[in-house]
Amino acid sequence: MITATGVRKAYGDLTVLDGIDLHVPAGSIFALLGPNGAGKTTTVQILSTLIGADAGEIRVAGHDPATEPDAVRAAIGVTGQFAAVDGLLTGRENLVLMADLHHLGRARGRRRADELLEQFDLTEAAAKQASTYSGGMRRRLDIAMGLVGTPRLVFLDEPTAGLDPRSRQMMWGTVRRLVADGVTIFLTTQYLEEADQLADRVAVLHGGRLVAEGRPDELKRLVPGGHVTLRFADGPALRAAAVALGATDVDSAQLSLQVPGDGSVRSLRAMLAALDGAGAEVETLTVHTPDLDDVFLALTAKEPAR
Ligand SMILES: Nc1ncnc2c1ncn2[C@@H]1O[C@H](COP(=O)(O)OP(=O)(O)OP(=O)(O)O)[C@@H](O)[C@H]1O
Ligand SMILES: [Mg+2]
Repeated sequence: MITATGVRKAYGDLTVLDGIDLHVPAGSIFALLGPNGAGKTTTVQILSTLIGADAGEIRVAGHDPATEPDAVRAAIGVTGQFAAVDGLLTGRENLVLMADLHHLGRARGRRRADELLEQFDLTEAAAKQASTYSGGMRRRLDIAMGLVGTPRLVFLDEPTAGLDPRSRQMMWGTVRRLVADGVTIFLTTQYLEEADQLADRVAVLHGGRLVAEGRPDELKRLVPGGHVTLRFADGPALRAAAVALGATDVDSAQLSLQVPGDGSVRSLRAMLAALDGAGAEVETLTVHTPDLDDVFLALTAKEPAR
């Protein structure tokens, strides 16, 4: 659905995209991650024909966004990071306006608007001015507006930013339903858990380049394995435990130590047996398995080489 090679974009002296390659198969969910200012929105804007790239070969739904923007626009839906909702219109009027822009025709446009209001749990609020909506309702309306034309490819720029946990879960459900219907999703997010939950493939943008790309589980293998943190009531217990476990990562101020481990029941049992043998009583035990947050922090920690 999307192929791009060597995409570059600069604003004056600032190189935002320094040659990035993307490949998004039809029917999949692709997540683009990156710190603030990494160029995620810029990438979405280029792929969705809103701005031009300085260089690179790009095909979106089989067309070049630079030379065939209308063909690309006919295939895509976009919801921006900053909602396109008109606060003076009601929710329904916003959707109908969108339907008119898509030339759906009066009856079909209204039907589509009602369908989406229902799907996004906005039927009750349909006749209220959008300016009175909560942040989550606005966000849902915004995404619904991007779906009016029944696109094959949907760009979601930080779709759940500012949503509460329940609204976020609802949004994830919506995204999954879209994909089940054959829609391809290109999303950007700051929430690593979101990428982990939804995405088939994840890419991390940093310093103008994609510094990693793969399935979430592949990316997690890029960072060191998990560890177990043990806390003790006093110094003697901590020291006895450090000796018994051969631990080198000891924090005397926190009365805690860390040992590498995957948190399996077998390894925990062996560890507790060793501590029992040494007479070191553990207060609390936490298991940390690497997640995408670790990957993100590790990959984007260094100042990028330009
Ligand atoms: N029209 C513009 N003119 C000049 N600089 C711009 C313009 N648009 C974006 N930039 C710069 O390009 C860089 C990338 O911006 P972009 O909005 O793509 O980042 P982002 O990854 O979406 O960040 P965020 O997570 O904060 O949304 C930033 O340094 C930004 O200031
Ligand atoms: Mg952005």
